[in-house]
Amino acid sequence: MNKYICAVLLFIFGACAAQAVTAHKPGHAAIASAHKLATAAGFEVLGEGGNAFDAAVAVAAALSVVEPQSSGIGGGGFFLLHRASDNKDVMLDARETAPAAVKESQYLKADGTPNRDTSLYGPLAAGIPGEPAGMVWLAEHYGKLPLAKSLAPAIRIAQQGFQPDARFLEAIADHREQLGRYPGSRALLLPNGEVPKAGWTFRNPDLAALLERLAAKGNDGFYRGKTAALMLKAVQAQGGDWTAADLVGYRAKERDPITIHYHDWRIVTAAPPSSGGVALAEIFNVLSGYNLTEADGVHRLHYIIEAMRRAFRDHNEYLGDPDFVKMPLATLMSPQYAAGLRAGILADKATPSSMLPSAVAQDPGMHTTHFSIIDADGNMVAATQTVNTHFGSCLVPPGTGMFLNNEMDDFALVPGAPNAYGLLGNKANAPAPGKRMLSSMSPSFVFGPDRVGVVGSPGGSTIITQVFEGILAFMDGKSAAQIVAQPRYHEQYLPDVVYAEPDAFDTATAKALEAMGYTIKQRHAWGFMNVVTWDLRDNKLDAASDPRGISGSGEVK
Ligand code: GLY
Repeated sequence: MNKYICAVLLFIFGACAAQAVTAHKPGHAAIASAHKLATAAGFEVLGEGGNAFDAAVAVAAALSVVEPQSSGIGGGGFFLLHRASDNKDVMLDARETAPAAVKESQYLKADGTPNRDTSLYGPLAAGIPGEPAGMVWLAEHYGKLPLAKSLAPAIRIAQQGFQPDARFLEAIADHREQLGRYPGSRALLLPNGEVPKAGWTFRNPDLAALLERLAAKGNDGFYRGKTAALMLKAVQAQGGDWTAADLVGYRAKERDPITIHYHDWRIVTAAPPSSGGVALAEIFNVLSGYNLTEADGVHRLHYIIEAMRRAFRDHNEYLGDPDFVKMPLATLMSPQYAAGLRAGILADKATPSSMLPSAVAQDPGMHTTHFSIIDADGNMVAATQTVNTHFGSCLVPPGTGMFLNNEMDDFALVPGAPNAYGLLGNKANAPAPGKRMLSSMSPSFVFGPDRVGVVGSPGGSTIITQVFEGILAFMDGKSAAQIVAQPRYHEQYLPDVVYAEPDAFDTATAKALEAMGYTIKQRHAWGFMNVVTWDLRDNKLDAASDPRGISGSGEVK
């Protein structure tokens, strides 16, 4: 295909970027994750002849051992995959599901107000885990190695132990009371009833044995047999109502990702039950009507913040599990809809959120985890996985070494009442048996004419704005290290404030934004972004892990 035709097609479809990728192979690999042991696990599996998808299993499993406060076997996630051989982009949805016995009344106090303790801690907080089914699917449908080989590094780390970093130990201290409620959790993380000190070696032989059962039997090694029995016993003993049918019935699902065309870039990102891709599409579509390169710094931020505000309004209103709700996705992501949103943005004035038809107070934390991989053949994985807030439900079924998630809190359990991230929801995200709860996780690929990026981050509702800002920085030509380090800002419709990290805006910019009507609130740093990039011009890979994390590592080998 000649260059002119390619340029025209690029403009119309953003298609040639993918063509360019097909023609190349990096010849080496890049992995960025939240823990150096997880990154090393990925490279170990690549060294044994595995591809990016095998490495993703290895990294995901290792993170479940070394960063259990953020994600794990008892949780779920979204794996965005790019297979180089046929340019296939697909989202593997391993999100948790509600058990059949779910009832909204379980999450209400006697006076009818939300019972946040029930939705965040203990058996009722936990959805049926999707992570194991996701790993099995990856290995069976995309990997080159048997599951057992890809799980081997995680099993070894769980058996031999490692020294948790300060972030891990702080998370234990923060959740000491909730961890102390459950015998399995106490035994695992509160040796002698105390929060462990720096230098403690954390061994988890029960989790190693659980991973061995998964390695030997695939889905049956988790959703049936010993692991299933241990989970059911603990959940039921603590007052939960999971059944064997809930576990056996769980399925990971392949979904078409959301594709966004923005100038000559093609962004491939998470589809519902993530709200992230739809929100990113709205933001980029609104911004495509402005010239961000020529706008002064204050107006560039004004347009971006107003686009974020409008995308988050729709997030709360329309989105849920695509297997249960009909969503107006084509409308929400159409250029005409974006033009309508843009028309309501005043040149020099913030739009009060109260002028738009309902949601947020939030804690931009480091919950959840993201990793990014490109292998020597150009296969790519962007994976964001989670147990929701730190240590999920804080419930470890004795004998499993695994925390069950508290993802039920991501449903709109009580219409109109905010979840852990301050996000409100309505019927589209109401709980129902077997339904997946809405997520903000937004693993993303960015394909340009001569560069490709793999981007994602944890951080609850801030994931969407972090990923947006990361993609924009990538488009602006920043290195992986610059992308993950840049200061962040976040607007999510309600509360009507712009959250900003300390260095996000200089004094003059902050003053100019305030003069337009924005309320800026400084927050402690948030997110833990892990990015890999590929420059097709010189076939160079780049990888970086967020300096906000402690043990993260981005490496090229
Ligand atoms: N549990 C956070 C999310 O999925 O967005």
